[in-house]
Amino acid sequence: MTDHILFTVDGAVATITLNRPDKLNAATPEMAKAIVAAVEECNDSDTIRCVIVTGAGPKAFCAGSDISELDSYATPWDFRNRSDYCDAIHHLLKPTIAAVNGYALGGGLETALSCDIRIASSNAKFAAPEIKLGWIGGGGMAAMLAHSIGMSNAALMIMSGDMIDAARALQMGLVSEVHEPEALMDRARQLAATIASRAPIAAETAKINLRAAVSMPLDKAMEYERDLQAICFATEDAKEGRAAFAEKRAPVFRRR
Ligand code: COA
Repeated sequence: MTDHILFTVDGAVATITLNRPDKLNAATPEMAKAIVAAVEECNDSDTIRCVIVTGAGPKAFCAGSDISELDSYATPWDFRNRSDYCDAIHHLLKPTIAAVNGYALGGGLETALSCDIRIASSNAKFAAPEIKLGWIGGGGMAAMLAHSIGMSNAALMIMSGDMIDAARALQMGLVSEVHEPEALMDRARQLAATIASRAPIAAETAKINLRAAVSMPLDKAMEYERDLQAICFATEDAKEGRAAFAEKRAPVFRRR
């Protein structure tokens, strides 16, 4: 494990922090491997219910892949098959919040896009700057950005490489909320605690369902939702939810 990734668990909420603030949390291959390991731990856990992803320091969430390390791959095929931090975050099975506390550039933007919910500090800046360097993003940039903000806005960001600020990101729907920098993590933890208090299988299923909603034809997505609903309906937690409602008490969900 590298010190450049911090992984903490507080009750039902895990936090993955990119911790290389002097390099704007630019991700090295070592950091990517540590993120893959942290994601595996979250996915294997029966008690972690929500994951926050953020960056250390006041300036950056993540300025993308460490450009100086991109020449360290022996072949383009090794580069293609690298441990990818954005992919790893995308494969988290638990609900995920990106607390974007500054620059989210390139792979940093893809990391934020790989989270289910994005909230940002007022000093956050977003860009897909790869085009300025001679390539394009490879961690799902086009698909996730187009789904998030529409084709024209996605093309504008990807083809210009220019940064947008937090206010513009909010207007485009790239983020759901903007907060003062000092309030961002409190809000992320509050939101994570709310999500963690909900029925966990239903929350994880909602994530699967949302992904299906943007990748399946409408009629298939609607059928699939009905199947997922039936799976949730059959859980002990759903029974508990109905019992708690009838008994006018708070439900106790056990992820069963
Ligand atoms: N890879 C490696 N190092 C990076 C980095 C990256 N993606 N982004 C920032 N850094 C490093 C800088 O080289 C600098 O290191 P140094 O102090 O040893 O010189 C440090 O982080 C601070 O960055 P700096 O450029 O001095 O800060 P700034 O406020 O002047 O500019 C940015 C900030 C984000 C505009 C600028 O750092 C930048 O353009 N970074 C590259 C972003 C990018 O293209 N990401 C996509 C990569 S695929």
